[in-house]
Amino acid sequence: MIPRLKGTDDILPPESARWRKLLRVFDDMAERYGYDLALMPAIESTELFSRGVGETTEVVEKQMYTFEDQGGRSVTLRPEFTAGIVRSYIASGNQGLLKLAAAGPQFRYEQPQKGRRRQFFQVDLEYLGEAAPGADIEVIEFSYRLLESVGVDGIGVRLNSIGDAADRVAYRGLLQDYLRERQSAISQDAQRRIESNPLRVLDSKADAEVVHDAPVPLDHLGPEAAAHFDQVRAGLDRLGVPYEIDPRLVRGLDYYNRTVFEFSATSFEAAQSSLGGGGRYDPLGELIGSKHPVAAVGVAMGCDRIVEAMAEPGGHRLDLYVVVADRDRTADAMEWVGRMRARGFKVDWDASASRSVKAQFKAANRFGAAAVAMVGGEWSDGVVSLKLLETGEERKVSVEEVEEWMKQR
Ligand code: HAM
Repeated sequence: MIPRLKGTDDILPPESARWRKLLRVFDDMAERYGYDLALMPAIESTELFSRGVGETTEVVEKQMYTFEDQGGRSVTLRPEFTAGIVRSYIASGNQGLLKLAAAGPQFRYEQPQKGRRRQFFQVDLEYLGEAAPGADIEVIEFSYRLLESVGVDGIGVRLNSIGDAADRVAYRGLLQDYLRERQSAISQDAQRRIESNPLRVLDSKADAEVVHDAPVPLDHLGPEAAAHFDQVRAGLDRLGVPYEIDPRLVRGLDYYNRTVFEFSATSFEAAQSSLGGGGRYDPLGELIGSKHPVAAVGVAMGCDRIVEAMAEPGGHRLDLYVVVADRDRTADAMEWVGRMRARGFKVDWDASASRSVKAQFKAANRFGAAAVAMVGGEWSDGVVSLKLLETGEERKVSVEEVEEWMKQR
């Protein structure tokens, strides 16, 4: 046996039922909110991420699956969607609005643990070409409703604004001074970051005590960023999306400005507990070579964590399992199954056309059918025997009545 790589998962039934539900709800909601589908490469030039996500971020410093391909180029398995999507937006010359939804695996070389995988799966929205706070409000509301719709309990939304790059010049100096004065009391990582990426120290758990009284970006917003943030808050209030301001929320990727946010849930507790996150990233386009600024905001939700926070989907996997009691009726049964499937019912049967009635009943139970329809001698009169598997109740009914019964369920 060749083992699975550490930090990767085979997602199979019964667990995959929750995945199917999550991906369906995401796809359906994205369509309803006006997001088109984007299918993106899983492999990109390394430079896209080092410049886009940021040279001094943990993702780029330590976690990338980077290698040289046979043509001698440095390539990287995507650790996230956003940089690739913005690359494609710029390349297509698209200067207008574009709302995209994407779903797929991401790769980060991390120490695997609960909810922290080396290959993990994100569903992602990017609202490109829009500077107004309405876009921020929409992606946050969408993410909240997505978690609600799949049955995640105790959803928490943390919200912050880190301001614009110009606001951060002065602020960065203040924070650096504050940290330098306490250099001996902070972690090695934090000391190293004072010069390279001081903002990241704000959400360092190891330095929580020192950081508690540090100056925060929220108190140093320029008037435009402050007004933007007020509008985001007012919009979320109006839509009934609860949130909590966390002035020390800064996120792990460098491309953000203004709004940043993260989701959690009481039903998912782990060292890394964020179910998703995102924010506005107006600087990203120019970081990766756009001549024009690209205003944009987006979110990525971590599916591996969300499914752990979801309850088992209730209900039956199949509406009906068709049991062939009279083997002369096998072809009729097959045709009937096909007709019901075409009408949208979830129906299965013994395609081997060889198992005993007993074995077929066993399969019906194993695959979670709500009922069994037995096709036997009375088929020529349009009659089958319908047995409800939960109650054991059994009656002779017409084929039409079976379909009517499924419709009513
Ligand atoms: P991120 O915070 O790096 O943001 O990742 C988003 C979510 O992906 C996390 O909240 C978490 O649920 C999940 N995630 C991240 N790493 C892992 C892992 N190793 N194992 C399991 N789940 C993980 C981004 O990726 C940005 N691209 C979000 C964004 C979109 N910003 C703007 N647009």
